Amino acid sequence: MARDGAVYTCQACGGITHKWAGQCPACGAWNTLVEEVTASRPPGALAPVRSGKARGGLAFETLDLETAAPPRLVTGIAEFDRVCGGGVVPGSAILVGGDPGVGKSTLLLQVCAAAALNGARVAYVSGEEAVEQVRARAQRMGLGHSPVKLAAETALREIIDALKRETFDLVVIDSIQTLWSDQLEAGPGSVTQVRAAAGELVRLAKKRSTAVVLVGHVTKDGQIAGPRVVEHMVDAVLSFEGERGYPFRILRGAKNRFGATDEIGVFEMGDSGLREVKNPSALFLNEGGQRSAGAAVFAGIEGSRPVLVEFQALVAPSAYGTPRRAVVGWDSGRLAMVLAVLESRCGLSLGARDVYLNVAGGLRITEPAADLAAAAALASSALDQPLPQDCVVFGEISLSGDVRAVGRTDARLKEAAKLGFGRALAPNAAKDSALSDAGFSVASATRLADAVRRIGDNDWR
Ligand code: TYD
Ligand code: MG
Repeated sequence: MARDGAVYTCQACGGITHKWAGQCPACGAWNTLVEEVTASRPPGALAPVRSGKARGGLAFETLDLETAAPPRLVTGIAEFDRVCGGGVVPGSAILVGGDPGVGKSTLLLQVCAAAALNGARVAYVSGEEAVEQVRARAQRMGLGHSPVKLAAETALREIIDALKRETFDLVVIDSIQTLWSDQLEAGPGSVTQVRAAAGELVRLAKKRSTAVVLVGHVTKDGQIAGPRVVEHMVDAVLSFEGERGYPFRILRGAKNRFGATDEIGVFEMGDSGLREVKNPSALFLNEGGQRSAGAAVFAGIEGSRPVLVEFQALVAPSAYGTPRRAVVGWDSGRLAMVLAVLESRCGLSLGARDVYLNVAGGLRITEPAADLAAAAALASSALDQPLPQDCVVFGEISLSGDVRAVGRTDARLKEAAKLGFGRALAPNAAKDSALSDAGFSVASATRLADAVRRIGDNDWR
């Protein structure tokens, strides 16, 4: 029997049980249940909120009334603003997650500095680093003159008090896991503390129209540590990602109540902080290098922007009984599907061979339009026949082996033309594009087998 008032909270999912167990009954994670003594009221159950007009009953509204778009605080870091949906909405709460060392503190310090230089009232509260450390970093990045108010504090009470005394437009809390409230017995970083701190800060943000950015740590398997409820409390969840060994960093929206979630912001980490990358295509393409067999340039769309990126494939004889399939930057399930279609609809025998597929530059592609680019790279490697240097590829593949049309054809072709490409291997529908009249040559494919034949015969008419 549990002691009175003791509950066990799963540190992975936030599930609560009254008995300790080795495995969380809610999410199945092992060794994540931690005893937390709660106050008289369980953390989720807040006192009912009294709103002024609640007495008169619920008043319904119509959809057709004019509502002004929320005003935006434009920080001046354009890549960050775009991922937020065109700037930060006052009174909103944003959670920024990412691996340790990926550059969250650096990014947000730059965002703070730029916003403060634009005239916003900005505070940066660090719970992880001393004020001197943050200041030294800011000076090294050439931001020492920006009027950001800096503090190092982990006590939630102190932070809330300070934010009530002085009005800010933007407050960064780095990180939510370091905060603790003296009203709770649970240790800092525990689910109860994180949830309470996030809750208080989000409420304060709404009440005082201050935009609050919370930095969240990420666990080994890529989840933002602490309960998922924090993700539900905030208005936007952004994740900051980077492949080890590459200087590129990508800010990606995972949830956004005020904008699209498929936007990405691209940065490059250098000696003086993060540099915005305005033209990611040039970054992800292997400049000047000859493209050999197994490479295909995918004309993709990330959010509102077209991005060209190279797919690299290697189909090699297998040294072992079970052939290897390894993929970086793309979904392994989709790779299996494309391989199966190549095998059964196009007569390429890949079953006994090792297959490696890599998206160059450390980008992760999720668009279905990349199917044809992956298939072209694989076929090109298997047939040992390079694609033309000036060719981009896009199109979705169905299980029946058809190449299906994808959206935003013109944007894809335009970006390709801008970077010196003059040819595309694409679905039939791309032939109707305005650009294909203007000298951009589209080698269309209605079936994947057509595309494979074109690659094998080097036929691009
Ligand atoms: P940081 O912002 O502290 O990461 P996080 O807050 O996500 O843990 O970034 C730390 C890394 O960034 C560190 O490994 C060094 C690198 N870095 C640079 O390469 N150049 C710079 O100008 C700065 C400030 C950091
Ligand atoms: Mg940090």
